[in-house]
Amino acid sequence: MAHLRLGVNIDHVATVRNARGGATPDPVRAAKLAEEAGADGITAHLREDRRHISDADIEALMDVLDRPLNFEMAATPEMQEIALRHKPHAVCIVPEKREERTTEGGLEVAREENSLAHFIAPLRDAGCRVSIFIAADPRQIDAAHRIGAQVIELHTGAYCDAHAEGRLEEREEELGKLRQMASYAHGLGLEVHAGHGLTYDTVQPVAAFPEVVELNIGHFLVGEAIFRGLTPAIAEMRRLMDAARGLTAAE
Ligand code: PXP
Repeated sequence: MAHLRLGVNIDHVATVRNARGGATPDPVRAAKLAEEAGADGITAHLREDRRHISDADIEALMDVLDRPLNFEMAATPEMQEIALRHKPHAVCIVPEKREERTTEGGLEVAREENSLAHFIAPLRDAGCRVSIFIAADPRQIDAAHRIGAQVIELHTGAYCDAHAEGRLEEREEELGKLRQMASYAHGLGLEVHAGHGLTYDTVQPVAAFPEVVELNIGHFLVGEAIFRGLTPAIAEMRRLMDAARGLTAAE
């Protein structure tokens, strides 16, 4: 099976920095280290309230990264302007407000189809790959396809929560939905990514879906870095992903 890309989300390095309001730990330094450790891309979410990543972080990431930046953002005019200024490799449109969410937590694309189609058109025209973060729901996938997104990112949060809370039947149900919807979206010609809440314990079943080409993982890796360091934390995630794909280091 093809190489599965790992996008490392460095938001929560900035969360720790902002807890003291100073300059450390620096998320840009973490991003460079993640690249060296084998990340295929860096993901950062510039939230409207700037609770973790800042505008200056995005500027610095655009300057120093060798790998593609996946810029996560809400569908607001301010974020669109920032994305158009920097033209990152990819933009992933995510919900930030309760009313933008489906029950499973992804973006409510189906209800906002017209406005989202208009919103993403200039981003596509600027050369960004547009990804939409959605629940494993055929209505949302169809809508993402109709509005002209090139990529969908399937929200793995419900699966990960069910796993963490020992709701095993639900875990299997959620995994089944993710598997089916990865295949359905791929059949429509969409590139399929997945992420949210993934850990060493939950990554492998998702990594094994042949249609999924990228996972975006952040919170767990930043937490694990406290105990074993960022480089080994990423290396272990990489190893688990490769093993799930049936790949060895030599492939
Ligand atoms: N993918 C998307 C679209 C996200 O919004 C997030 C969280 O910012 C992630 C992946 C990473 O999730 P986590 O930090 O739980 O690994």
